[in-house]
Amino acid sequence: MPKKIEKMIDFFNNRADNYDDNMRSNIEDFNRFYSKIAMEIKETQREINILDIGCGTGLELEYIFKRVPYAKVFCLDLSERMLNRLKEKYSSKQEQIETRLGSYVKIPFEENEYDYIVSVMTLHHLSNNKKLALCNKIYKALKSNGKYIEGDYIVDQTKEEKIIKEAVKDNAKTDGNYHIDLPFSIESQKQILTESGFKKFNLIYEKNEAAVYSVQR
Ligand SMILES: C[S@@+](CC[C@H](N)C(=O)[O-])C[C@H]1O[C@@H](n2cnc3c(N)ncnc32)[C@H](O)[C@@H]1O
Repeated sequence: MPKKIEKMIDFFNNRADNYDDNMRSNIEDFNRFYSKIAMEIKETQREINILDIGCGTGLELEYIFKRVPYAKVFCLDLSERMLNRLKEKYSSKQEQIETRLGSYVKIPFEENEYDYIVSVMTLHHLSNNKKLALCNKIYKALKSNGKYIEGDYIVDQTKEEKIIKEAVKDNAKTDGNYHIDLPFSIESQKQILTESGFKKFNLIYEKNEAAVYSVQR
């Protein structure tokens, strides 16, 4: 029987309550992975601007606020229940956090606005075309010299080709509205980021089919 594909919003709304516990037990090397994301942000007491796309319950924020305690973070997510959990968890930081319910595929980003943009465990549901359009938008939203940091599931190129072929065959909905896993290889992600104009691709972490990398505007 074919697996039922859930809408992205329903998938995460239905799992928001147990999300943090599940991630902590399912991601091997959890602490190291999230620390590597945060370590790409230079420590400062200044009020820098960060955009977190697909922020979920804000697992990465715990690590990020240790390095930039006064950062203003704009948190964007499709799932209201994930955002509600984030707001509960970071109630002491409510002056610094702005949340917005919606899709990063559709919502326009303010241009030249952010010192850093982060996306963690969220872009592996998009087709390459959608990903390219999003990376172009991310590029423009960063200040000059701003940095984009991404952490996600990855696969090797052979597995990536197989996954894409199967998605095409099944006519899978890869517009980002459905919970379909389309993890990419580091090589194709690097290509998309370079095509979007980014420089200095820096692979920081790679283990257990997960990777963290950053690029510079
Ligand atoms: C696996 S969670 C990752 C959450 C968080 N970044 C973390 O590392 O724990 C993926 C999140 O991305 C959100 N998401 C998926 N597609 C999205 C889209 N097109 N626009 C906004 N949020 C999206 C989901 O609602 C979910 O909260």
